[in-house]
Amino acid sequence: MPPATLSPAARTYRVQGSVIRSLLKVTQQPGVISLGGGMPSPASFPIDAMRAAYDAELAENGPAAVQYSTTEGELCLREWIAERETAKGVPTDPDDVLITAGSQQALDLLAKAFVEPGAPVLVQSPTYLGALQAFSAFEPDYRVVGIDGEGFRRETIEAGLTDGARFMYIMCNFQNPTGGTLTEACLRAVAERARLDDFWLVEDDPYGDLWYRTPPPPSLRTWAPERTIRMSSFSKILAPGLRLGYVVAPPEAIELLARLKQATDLQTSTLTQRAAARVLRSGILTEHLPRIREIYAVQCAAMLEALEACMPSGVSWSRPEGGMFVWVTLPEPLDSLVLLKAAVERGVIFAPGNGFYAVEPALNTLRLSFSTVPPEKIRTAVGILGKLIREAI
Ligand SMILES: Cc1ncc(COP(=O)(O)O)c(C=O)c1O
Repeated sequence: MPPATLSPAARTYRVQGSVIRSLLKVTQQPGVISLGGGMPSPASFPIDAMRAAYDAELAENGPAAVQYSTTEGELCLREWIAERETAKGVPTDPDDVLITAGSQQALDLLAKAFVEPGAPVLVQSPTYLGALQAFSAFEPDYRVVGIDGEGFRRETIEAGLTDGARFMYIMCNFQNPTGGTLTEACLRAVAERARLDDFWLVEDDPYGDLWYRTPPPPSLRTWAPERTIRMSSFSKILAPGLRLGYVVAPPEAIELLARLKQATDLQTSTLTQRAAARVLRSGILTEHLPRIREIYAVQCAAMLEALEACMPSGVSWSRPEGGMFVWVTLPEPLDSLVLLKAAVERGVIFAPGNGFYAVEPALNTLRLSFSTVPPEKIRTAVGILGKLIREAI
């Protein structure tokens, strides 16, 4: 029989696949060093604690643990999240929390809730590729806003870019892909502008706990709790395969997103939520977080040293104080996609920068991730990249 013709909706063509996911086959070949993906270090997964929590939950609450449950999420987990948010300075009720299948699902729900053709959406540049994937299907009018230490740059305000925006999607700390962090003064100014121009703030914060020496400034919710939809995730502090994330927002936003989640998947896994709540309630993070921070701090330092030692002049890079990424800018007119081809042949993979731009990609940029690579391999891989760049200049 001939294959049936597939007739996808027009919106599907607006969702770009990730270059890194398409390189996954190459990544898995022996000897290849991948600085491409954004995976957490396997050494950071609390396997024993998770096994014990799943066992205990099934033994003590078997049927309820595998039964359908509420769309908003298990109360035990929402309570833990609300307590943590409250302890960080913003009083939070479990009803202000929605559990999602990773924060990626929260981005998808947000897109369905707020984006429609031509709706102005403010983004940083570059920004998280997965957010662009989630939003683009619904045809936003992306407005790239410039931000510096004092908040929105004057040109952004003068050009009226924030006027009429539905929301701003913003990563405040240890951003993906740049590793950058916004100052507290900047967060205050962004919150004030959101009030003035009446737009919402979508704060995506999966990396906030992964600081190396000092914690980042407090959440945007501190400055504008009435208009911030904050999302975070257990992917980077427990394990991404759990697919557990959450949204913290005013009740009217939670109610809207929960309605849309119901249409998507009814709820996030009951058992996984309950097991995670047990792991978290055990107090594991007190020792676990410092351990993870140390892993990434050491690997980041190895990457920065290797870049210093191996890159020719004209190449610049970010110096993150937390998270999993370093952002590299090559001298123009070098194109990181061309470099990637040569690097794959030499057994090294990275994420070319173009996918991280809502508009007008800077082709001379790339993201390096050090999270799953031991220091000696980081040095080898950066050495190979340095040599290829030198040859290309
Ligand atoms: C900025 C940002 N937001 C959201 C996500 C999605 O993470 P998850 O769905 O695993 O919570 C990622 C994943 O890397 C990310 O970097």
